[in-house]
Amino acid sequence: MAKVKFYKTPDIPLEMHKVRIVQKLFLPKVEDRVKYMNEAGNNTFLLQNRDVYMDMLTDSGVNAMSDRQQAAMMIADDSYAGSETFNRLTSKLTEIFGTKYFLPTHQGRAAENILAEAFVNPGYVIPMNFHFTTTKAHITRLGGTVEEVIVAEGLKPTSDSPFKGNFDIPRLRALIEEVGVERIPFIRIEAGTNLVGGQPLSLENMLEVAAICKEYGILSVLDASLLQDNLYFIKVREAACKDMTIREITRKIADNMDIIYFSARKLGFARGGGICTHTEELCLKMKEFIPLYEGFLTYGGMSVREMEAITVGLEETMDEDIISQGPMFIEYMVNELVKYGVPVVTPAGGLGCHLNASEFVPHIPHTQYPAGALGAALYIAGGVRGMERGSISEQREPDGTERYAELELLRLAVPRRVYTLSQIEYAIDRVKWLYDNRNLVGGLKFVEEPAVLRFFFGRLAPTSDWQQKLADKFRADFGDSL
Ligand code: F0G
Repeated sequence: MAKVKFYKTPDIPLEMHKVRIVQKLFLPKVEDRVKYMNEAGNNTFLLQNRDVYMDMLTDSGVNAMSDRQQAAMMIADDSYAGSETFNRLTSKLTEIFGTKYFLPTHQGRAAENILAEAFVNPGYVIPMNFHFTTTKAHITRLGGTVEEVIVAEGLKPTSDSPFKGNFDIPRLRALIEEVGVERIPFIRIEAGTNLVGGQPLSLENMLEVAAICKEYGILSVLDASLLQDNLYFIKVREAACKDMTIREITRKIADNMDIIYFSARKLGFARGGGICTHTEELCLKMKEFIPLYEGFLTYGGMSVREMEAITVGLEETMDEDIISQGPMFIEYMVNELVKYGVPVVTPAGGLGCHLNASEFVPHIPHTQYPAGALGAALYIAGGVRGMERGSISEQREPDGTERYAELELLRLAVPRRVYTLSQIEYAIDRVKWLYDNRNLVGGLKFVEEPAVLRFFFGRLAPTSDWQQKLADKFRADFGDSL
């Protein structure tokens, strides 16, 4: 993908695939978009997909599958126990990670549940570069706490640092000394750090953390859900790795981790998850939870068809042409918005383009959820569905007080191989319009706030009639355009 240069046209990302199955889309009128957003409680998770033109909510389970994945689904071995499909998936994981044991789970958070059940006790502390929503919820549910030791650069929205997901190594050491190894069951390394804009870690940093784990006798756990993008960034941004293949980088990381878990809704371009270990001893610590929570040991809650698709998807993840598509489209979107002066997280990470709501709508205070408000506004502006990654996505402190997010982001995920560049251009255009009209965007307040993972199904209302004013301005500017 990166290798093709243009003659007269400025270089743009060029797809190394063609599309052979399509789905019709609809774009409701702006007046209907205001209505639908309010029916959805101003929470983009609660919109109906039929009312969404560009679904940039997530890249989880919605990436386009390849012809080979589809073909592989036909040979799935549908048996409750001892399925050949499981053996094929395990062999592929052994081939790319070098791990011997595989525990299947229905998705990534199920793997997190099992890790937490197996290793977290009240009073335990789990250091990580940064938390992910479901990871933290499982750890705190069992009385543990999460300590984030990301480099300072990671929390700066704009930067030219190539690896903003890195651990701050001196802080990690100081934390271990302060807490004591007996209260630290594992250190979690999140590839492609989700909540700070899909920012990668360097191979060097991951290996340093793994070495610290060995030195102190603490388990190293890699969350490989976003490894795909991270591998690409290591290859193109880390000078020492430029001559390594994606497969070699993967193996180098995996050889140094005790446990690797992943959401196969992201890694492997299908739907599922699982946990890999090098040793039987570690596998046995978690094994009994699989039939209890997930399903028998050879499917773990996944459909065997999906497992076949994951096996092929993992192989395709080793192909730089395939894994570069997402990051290159995201980089294009980020660069176009930066040129217009729109505040976005830089450098471009994986996963999606992240609008920095704190600067986009600085007049909206934390208490009125600027990133959530921006999400509602962008749906009204263009039928584009993003995901709030700010204070609404945080959980309240144990004493019930709000924990405001370090970064108030609206994530515009770029599902792999799903949207064309003209659709990305459309999203960019509507973000630019919204930026020029940002003063019209107002805040939100909770009307229904669930106690756990409130961002998924909490309902909010606008603090004024700002959405109507925004829709009126849209009509004035765009006439009868959808
Ligand atoms: N870890 C990371 C880094 C993730 O990004 C996700 C999911 C999970 C774990 C949980 O996996 O969804 O299969 O249970 N991220 C999705 C997202 C939800 O939209 O970013 P899951």
